[in-house]
Order: sequence, then structure tokens, then C-alpha cells
Amino acid sequence: MRWSGFGTRLVLSMALVVLTGGVAAWLVAQAVGPGQFRSHMDAAEREPGTVTEHAREAFVEAGALTVAAALGASVLVSLVLAVVLSRRVAGSLDGMATVSAQVAAGRFGERVAAPRLGSEFDELAGAINGMAERLGHDEEMRHRLMADVSHELRTPVATISGYLDAIEDGVQDLNPATTQMLRAQAARLTRLAEDLSAVGAAQSGGLPLDLRVVAPAQLVELAARAARPQYAARQVRLFAHVEHGVPAVAADRDRFGQILGNLLENALRHTPRGGEVRLTAQRYRHEVRFVVSDSGEGIPPEHLPYVFERFYRVDAARDRGHGGSGIGLAIVRSLVVAHGGTVTAHSRGAGQGAAFVVGLPPAPSRRRSPVPMR
Ligand SMILES: Nc1ncnc2c1ncn2[C@@H]1O[C@H](COP(=O)(O)OP(=O)(O)OP(=O)(O)O)[C@@H](O)[C@H]1O
Ligand SMILES: [Mg+2]
Repeated sequence: MRWSGFGTRLVLSMALVVLTGGVAAWLVAQAVGPGQFRSHMDAAEREPGTVTEHAREAFVEAGALTVAAALGASVLVSLVLAVVLSRRVAGSLDGMATVSAQVAAGRFGERVAAPRLGSEFDELAGAINGMAERLGHDEEMRHRLMADVSHELRTPVATISGYLDAIEDGVQDLNPATTQMLRAQAARLTRLAEDLSAVGAAQSGGLPLDLRVVAPAQLVELAARAARPQYAARQVRLFAHVEHGVPAVAADRDRFGQILGNLLENALRHTPRGGEVRLTAQRYRHEVRFVVSDSGEGIPPEHLPYVFERFYRVDAARDRGHGGSGIGLAIVRSLVVAHGGTVTAHSRGAGQGAAFVVGLPPAPSRRRSPVPMR
């Protein structure tokens, strides 16, 4: 039983009832007993030979009065306590039921006041408030997602229909440059649809992973090889390094390639010509860490907690100009979590470069064969 719990209050109430009974009995015995005995003893003096009878009567009367007073006081106190406690319990349960019903009806701003009836009641109220807050946050995210999706759709669709109108009116030729522009806009829409379904599937746990035991060196090498042509074209140096003796991890090669690929793409986008990006794998305490660090624009500290949210861009105009829609890191986080790992963003601020750290648990050492997937 917890000292701050409701049970303690119940035990204390019982104790108070017993104590009141005891005190009442003692007070009555003190007040009534001596007088009762004295009057019986006086009567016995007047009627010789009746001492024993009077003593017995005095004892019985004083005892009965004492017991009656103790019983009466206990009943009275227990009634008062029962009414007070049951009112407070019913009141706070009513409050919680009302708030739960309001939250269920979509009013996520409602909160339960602390009942102060013991830690169990406080915890229940805290859980209801936490649930309301979480639901409110999810609702807000859903609204934002809808607004962002429609915003992302509007730009390419407006470009496509603008071009089509111009071609129809004879203002614009359907030349290779126009076709290329239309294709690019269509490709942007396709990518958006794919990204959205990828992040949706990963977040709902519906993304099947083909987990196998892989050496981190292999994952690093694959990702670096895939990224090298773009890095060379943008004249950004890419260093890949794996520390000696890093343990193997259980990873889906394609999906993990997507994780490192997204991080390397971001690093390239935000690192100016002549800069450098490092992709490393190392053991750190109980995990294997993959780190993508760059010498680029960096991320101001106030933006760091949000970069993994869908559609979050540090500088919407600049980042959209880079061609990004702000989904890449949301996909990265979902994929890393599906691998049982964690991902964090670090930067000392604008102009100071950025680093993204993916931590995975090492694969159990005896597991040498491919791991069957969920
Ligand atoms: N290495 C980095 N350096 C500086 N800022 C970064 C870096 N990586 C990500 N960011 C910031 O975080 C934001 C979110 O990144 P995210 O990958 O989710 O979106 P994106 O790259 O803009 O678009 P997408 O990945 O969907 O093409 C970016 O818009 C950018 O502002
Ligand atoms: Mg990105």
C-alpha cells in the first residue's frame, strides 16, 4: 500500500472512527462513573445489606452509558466521514467521466482538475489529461498534414495546368523543354505520392522489413557508392570510414540504404561546393552508430527538435528551392524505428555543419543465418 494512496486515507478514516469511540467512552466513564457509584454507595448506607447489589447496579449502569456513548460517537463520526469521502470520490469520478466524454466528442482542450484523493486518483486524472493532450496533438498534426499535402500538390498542378493552358492558347510550343518541365512536375507529384505512402506504411508498422545480419562496412560502402556520382557532380567530397571491429547489425539492406541515402542527399543539398561530408560507422557503448556529418549550412538549435516531422523545413522557401518537400527525415525516422534503432540530429548552429546519428543495436552474436522477417 502506498503512503500517499487512497488506501491510506481509508485506513486513517477507520482509525479516526475507532479513536473517537474510545475517547467518547473514556470521557463518559470519567464523567458518569464516579457519580453513579457515589449515589449507589449513599443508597447502600441508607439501606444496610444492599452494598453488593448497589455496586453491581452502579457497574452495569456506568458500563451501559459508556458503551452507548462510544457507539453513538463512532456511528456519528463514521456517518460524517462516509458522506464526505463518498461525495469527494463521486465528485471526482463524475468530473473525470465528464472530461472523458468531452474528449471523446472532440473537445481536446478539456482537462481534469487534480482530485487530491490520493496518488491513484491523481495518476488516473494525469492519464486522462495525457490522453487528451496526445489526441489534441494528433488532431493538430492531421490538420497540418492536410494543409501541407494540399500545398505541396497545388504548386506542380498549377504549373502543369498553366503550361497546358499556354499550349492550348498557342502561347507556348510543345517543345522538348516544355515536355521536360511537364515531366519534372509529374515526377514531383509521383515522388510525393510515394513518399507519403512510405512514411504512412512505416509509421503504421505495415512496412515489411527483410532483416538480415549485415556488416556495417557493407551498408556504408553501398550507400557511399550510390551517392558518389551526385557528390562528384556538385564537387563535394565524400569520406566513408568504418572503425575496426564494429559488430554486425540486423538490417534490411534496401531500407537501410534508403536511410543513409536520404541523409547523404540532405547533407549534399546543404553543403556548398568544396565542402565535405563524412559517413562513418563506429561502436558507441551498446550500439552501432552510423553518422552522416557535413561542413554545410547547419541547423539553428530552435529547429533541431522538429526536423524529423513531416513537411518540416528549416527555411521553407530555400529548401523547396532545393526541390525538397520535407518528408525525407520523417521517412528516415520511421525506418530507423522499424529497425529498432534511434536517430538524432545535431548541429552547433547556422553555418556550423550538421550531423545525423543513427544508432542500431548490434545483432545477437550467434545469429549467422538470415533472420526471418515479421
Ligand atoms: N544536413 C543538413 N544540413 C542542414 N539542414 C538540414 C540537413 N538535413 C536536413 N536539414 C533541414 O531539415 C529539413 C527537413 O529535411 P527533410 O529531408 O525531411 O526534407 P527535405 O530534404 O527538405 O525534403 P525531401 O527530403 O522530402 O526531399 C530540410 O528542409 C532542411 O531544412
Ligand atoms: Mg531530405
